[in-house]
Amino acid sequence: MPAIPAENTITVQNLLTAFEGESNANAKYTAFAAKAVEEGLHGAASLFRAAARAEQIHAVNHARVLDRMGSRSECEIRPVEVKSTLENLKTALNGERYEIDTMYPSFLEEATERKNTAAIRTFTGAFEAEKTHARLFSEAIALLAAGKKDSSNGSWLGEAREFYVCPVCGYTSETEEEHERCPVCNCPWEKFEIIR
Ligand SMILES: [Fe+2]
Ligand SMILES: [Fe+2]
Repeated sequence: MPAIPAENTITVQNLLTAFEGESNANAKYTAFAAKAVEEGLHGAASLFRAAARAEQIHAVNHARVLDRMGSRSECEIRPVEVKSTLENLKTALNGERYEIDTMYPSFLEEATERKNTAAIRTFTGAFEAEKTHARLFSEAIALLAAGKKDSSNGSWLGEAREFYVCPVCGYTSETEEEHERCPVCNCPWEKFEIIR
């Protein structure tokens, strides 16, 4: 592969870091979904599966930009530490918060300085989608911490349910009629993936 031009090295490094983060988040949420099933928290499992799919979309988007910039996209998938679903939700929320508060803002700033529109687009999609995950994980944590595990106490955590994931940017929604188009990337609603 040809060498990466010097002015692109930081953007490429940031894309690789984000690719690794998203790929590991996908592995983590997939394992957390299995644990939630074990605990009978099928709605929480649905959420983890939807978020896992969104992270996979982010990883693929980042990889596409890396490819265009002449870089490989390879990363190490680390072993997942699985705890209780409440702890797993907190781990997931912390990961999302790091990406929303620290990682993507700094990567976006750098890509903007470089006027790298492809990097800006993929980072923006992930940054906005992670906010939807943080909100949904927070909601699940509040329910579970209050002992609200199923519909007998008004909780969605117990029964498998549908989430809607934008196939372009990973925006994740819990209601079907929320939008006509993805509020982040404008993808038509009919193309959204239904994850259960
Ligand atoms: Fe996420
Ligand atoms: Fe989208």
